[in-house]
Amino acid sequence: MKIDVLLGLQWGDEGKGKIVDVLTPRYDVISRFQGGPNAGHTLEFNNIKHVLHNIPSGIFREETLNIITNGVVLDPVVFKREIEALEAMGVDLTKNLIISKKAHLILPSHRTLDAASEAAKGKSKIGSTLKGIGPTYMDKTGRNGLRVGDIDRNFQDKYNALKEKHKRLLKQYDFEYNLEEEEEKWFEGIKTIKRYERVDSEFVINNLLENGKSILAEGAQGTLLDIDFGSYPFVTSSNTICAGACTGMGVAPSKIGEVFGIFKAYCTRVGSGPFPTELFDNEGDLLRSVGNEFGSTTGRPRRCGWIDLVALKYSIMLNGVTQLIMTKTDVLDDFDTIKLATAYKIDGELSDQFPYTLDDSTEAIYTEMPGWKTDLTEIRSKEQFPPELKAYIEFLEKELKIPVKFVSVGPDRKQIIEI
Ligand code: GDP
Ligand code: IMO
Ligand code: MG
Repeated sequence: MKIDVLLGLQWGDEGKGKIVDVLTPRYDVISRFQGGPNAGHTLEFNNIKHVLHNIPSGIFREETLNIITNGVVLDPVVFKREIEALEAMGVDLTKNLIISKKAHLILPSHRTLDAASEAAKGKSKIGSTLKGIGPTYMDKTGRNGLRVGDIDRNFQDKYNALKEKHKRLLKQYDFEYNLEEEEEKWFEGIKTIKRYERVDSEFVINNLLENGKSILAEGAQGTLLDIDFGSYPFVTSSNTICAGACTGMGVAPSKIGEVFGIFKAYCTRVGSGPFPTELFDNEGDLLRSVGNEFGSTTGRPRRCGWIDLVALKYSIMLNGVTQLIMTKTDVLDDFDTIKLATAYKIDGELSDQFPYTLDDSTEAIYTEMPGWKTDLTEIRSKEQFPPELKAYIEFLEKELKIPVKFVSVGPDRKQIIEI
């Protein structure tokens, strides 16, 4: 068997949580392979809305095994809170959630370093979610990190050593902090982690594959936030692309099967950084209010704009996408005209290549298409698609050269059309 991968093609929040939940019945295993509690993946069913941060989105189906693998950074405080919220809903996770021993732990002092570093950057801040992601991955690559597998081995000493190092680093900032209160919660979170099986997940995953089990890897963030290929430095600190699934799980590239690339019918971004198709007018406000575009993790209003095919082509190339999934299509229901960026103008030159620096001088060049002016939220088959939506999808498929296999028309599990 091969592992299928689902990942975001834009700047995150494409609707990954919803689609993983929809696809979960087709898989034996769902794994999260990178990122951490900077992610906020929303699922909706039976009038319940749930946001997951560290835990894979397959958790609501009892028969599915969920794995947090080595590429993830885990915050015990957020983890405990998530587990408690799920337990309150009657979900028992001890049987179907396991964690890699090689996943790195986010310490309270990582969060403090994230906040201090952002405050010091002033206007040029990244717009981080302040969950400690950057500092934790820095300690991972700097070979100082604390891992889940360390919990049973001299843990307190290792914790203290890393905390002291962080305190020395914090001296360079004019930043007030108090770790004690957070530390107490953190060690309570460690107790929660200890209730779960901690494994060498690379062996677990490869054995599952050998035994014919089907696995879906759930990406976090989006391709344009990738540490290598995103709009650097306004990116996250992990490889969000398909290759990140190989290193983040310990599977060979030859084991990757389908790559589901998910994108919104328009585009959003939260945090700082360039966004060539951003709208600053009523249409942007309309996308935000109809699409309820407020961060699932931080509540911040998301910046909204038109779909960007230059960026999507780049993302498709980097990930080897085999199937496209379009979400939030219903958010465009009331627009008379829909715009699609098909090229950039950089220094007077037209280009369809995503540039080295995507700065304010990058101007998006648009094609316009008529809107469908139809309520899509109750539609359940492609035969019911209005002609303008069919034309929109055909245009995307022609430009992107990949078939659109799913169209999402609302936040609920049921609001999906498979083509
Ligand atoms: P993720 O991080 O990629 O999982 O996405 P988020 O959960 O952060 O943001 C997506 C938001 O859009 C959530 O509030 C979802 O409930 C919602 N959503 C997902 N698909 C659709 C859709 O097709 N239509 C509408 N209106 N909302 C959707
Ligand atoms: P999901 O998985 C949208 C953005 C932040 C910031 C930048 C760096 O829900 O799609 P970080 O906390 O990683 O240091 O922030 O990345 N960001 C996200 N934006 N969705 C996410 O996750 C994000 N995770 C990080 O807003 O601009
Ligand atoms: Mg999100």
